[in-house]
Amino acid sequence: MSMQRTLSIIKPDGVSRGLIGEVVKRLEASDISIVAMKMVHLTQAQAEGFYAVHRERPFFESLTKFMTSGPVVVMVLQGEDVIARYRNLMGATNYEEAAEGTIRRDFATDIEKNVVHGSDAPETAAFEIGYFFNQLEIMS
Ligand code: CMP
Repeated sequence: MSMQRTLSIIKPDGVSRGLIGEVVKRLEASDISIVAMKMVHLTQAQAEGFYAVHRERPFFESLTKFMTSGPVVVMVLQGEDVIARYRNLMGATNYEEAAEGTIRRDFATDIEKNVVHGSDAPETAAFEIGYFFNQLEIMS
């Protein structure tokens, strides 16, 4: 186990459905520290840059449109093994395959509108955190 940081996004469906508090409550209950947090409304270009690894996927255009459809809440999470721990809290990308009691199982409405995003590895976490936050905005 090692101390890690990861990027969390509460997606436009989560924000518009009033799920910010629910997600934050689950993070705090799991002893995951929030060390940076802000609300942003992404432009199309910003969403495309964030999801650039998916640019060849058939769902890319729909995904980036969805991600710009309203504000999102972005957070930097910190803790021991936090990348995997947060992914366990979120559940599988496809909510129908997500475990009982996970955020996506409880709240997602389809594979795209799945309420939250979380980095999948240390390298992607570093890229994704740097995409939204500078050093001064992250609590040490
Ligand atoms: P996320 O974890 O943010 O990573 C990529 C996103 O693409 C994913 O959550 C979903 O919102 C969206 N998506 C839409 N369709 C698919 C699909 N078939 N497979 C994976 N991700 C998808």
